[in-house]
Amino acid sequence: MPNPNRSSVVRTRIAAATVAALLSIAGMAQPHSFAPRPDRDPLVTRDPSGQLQTNAPDGRIDTGNSFFQSLGSNGRSCNSCHRQAEGWTISAAEVQRRFVATRGTDPIFRPVDGADSPLANVSTLAAREAAYSMLLDHGVIRVGLPIPADAEFTLTAVDDPYHYASAAELSLFRRPLPATNLIWDTAVMWDGRETYMPFKPPMDAGIDHEDVRLSLASQALHAVLGHEQAAVAPSELTISEIVEFESHLFTAQAFDNEAGALNADGVMGGADILAQQKFWVGINDSLGNDPTTEPFDPRVMRLFDHWRDPLVLRRSGPWQSGRAAVARGQDVFDSLPINISGVAGLNDATGKPVIRGTCGTCHDAPNIGNHSVAAPLDIGIADASRRTPDMPLYTLTNNRTGQAVQTTDPGLAMLTGKWADIGKFKGPNLRGLAARAPYFHNGSAATLMDVVNFYDTRFHVGMSERQKQDLVAFLSAL
Ligand code: HEC
Ligand code: HEC
Repeated sequence: MPNPNRSSVVRTRIAAATVAALLSIAGMAQPHSFAPRPDRDPLVTRDPSGQLQTNAPDGRIDTGNSFFQSLGSNGRSCNSCHRQAEGWTISAAEVQRRFVATRGTDPIFRPVDGADSPLANVSTLAAREAAYSMLLDHGVIRVGLPIPADAEFTLTAVDDPYHYASAAELSLFRRPLPATNLIWDTAVMWDGRETYMPFKPPMDAGIDHEDVRLSLASQALHAVLGHEQAAVAPSELTISEIVEFESHLFTAQAFDNEAGALNADGVMGGADILAQQKFWVGINDSLGNDPTTEPFDPRVMRLFDHWRDPLVLRRSGPWQSGRAAVARGQDVFDSLPINISGVAGLNDATGKPVIRGTCGTCHDAPNIGNHSVAAPLDIGIADASRRTPDMPLYTLTNNRTGQAVQTTDPGLAMLTGKWADIGKFKGPNLRGLAARAPYFHNGSAATLMDVVNFYDTRFHVGMSERQKQDLVAFLSAL
């Protein structure tokens, strides 16, 4: 789309990058830092609210791994879109810095799925800035998928600002998911399309570790052929090397600018403790799928319990108010009542029009925050009512009833072809959030406060300003 302000947008972005660089230099003088320092420890990086830590075998990131090698024809590697410092995905801010530094020529800027349309003109700097607007503004990649042949619905209208999408290939703008904390995945990809369970019926809740490895292998193969545009498939050895690498990464916030070290005084933040987190498929499932038949405990997040203790807080010196806020935010997550209604995959599946739940009803895996069984849910992120003008809007008509819905992304329905699956996505892992804005599958929430405000309005929670701020403090510390 022609935009007269593009050059000033470039300038604003350069200015923003400079300010960010200055801030990160200022951040080096951080007093009272007990956490490992990013300038000395290769496993620790800076992010907007503190420091992010990755736990990897032998205490190092093996950059010789094929994950970091360009395996296709366009110069990209997995690391083009999955970066340690951004929680093994990308952030919109970092993509903007990369654009400025390379004048939009870094391999992430490739028309195939980096651009708003694969046919976009990318011949000049200004053209590239326009062509990659979705990637620059929201950190999203264009996932091109066809409407399934046997779908229960037909694509009856397309409103694509980039004039490309059709039933043969919808443009679905999605955030790269973190290539870390993967061993706890109960679905792979936002719509679960790489979840591979060869020995079980589809959509069975019982994905196990072998299934995760097979799913990741299939995912990696498709990533090399698709994102990296390889003409021939990589060897099985290469694929298993990548899967080996990514499935041994654990990532979490380790240091918070307001609360200090996130493993101080017996609290359990940071990646080293996360790597030891107990998990099995169905653990603490809110829908009763825990194989141990233990009932669901809404106290899903227990990391910061010790910071609820006034005596501990009083010893916390300059971090006292920051730690108190994180602990209060954890309580909001674990106990603030949310009347969940209108969520396909949950209210309809349980036959309960209103479920009096909490954040943990859907984010039920203890201290991890994804759903402990595959649970594709429609919380409304792709609804037409939330569409911004830069997103394509699709009208789908039910072949049987003639009913029509509009959505920016049909989600799971692109896989199953089922009307009931329109708008369903997995709830991702909630660790290492601070480094990887924006949020939700389409990057529509620019900040964690935007995420919290979404829930507050979507479910009419009525959170106080303080509850919102505490929840953000807590989410930032994950
Ligand atoms: C051009 C950007 C890009 C490149 C390059 C890329 N990915 Fe991704 N990755 C994405 C996007 C976008 C998604 C989410 C897509 C979706 O869900 O539809 C994703 C999802 C994933 C997931 C799913 C995580 C989960 O929890 O479900 C894994 C694992 C992953 N990528 C690994 C890799 C590997 C390994 C490579 C290299 C072989 C790679 N990616 C290359 C953009 C990229
Ligand atoms: C009804 C189920 C449900 C409830 C309740 C719920 N979530 Fe979510 N959450 C999801 C789903 C599903 C997604 C992914 C949605 C998407 O992107 O389309 C998600 C995504 C998120 C994300 C974005 C993660 C990322 O990587 O982009 C955050 C953060 C989050 N939820 C936090 C919360 C908090 C905090 C609460 C409580 C105030 C909460 N959720 C309540 C289901 C739920």
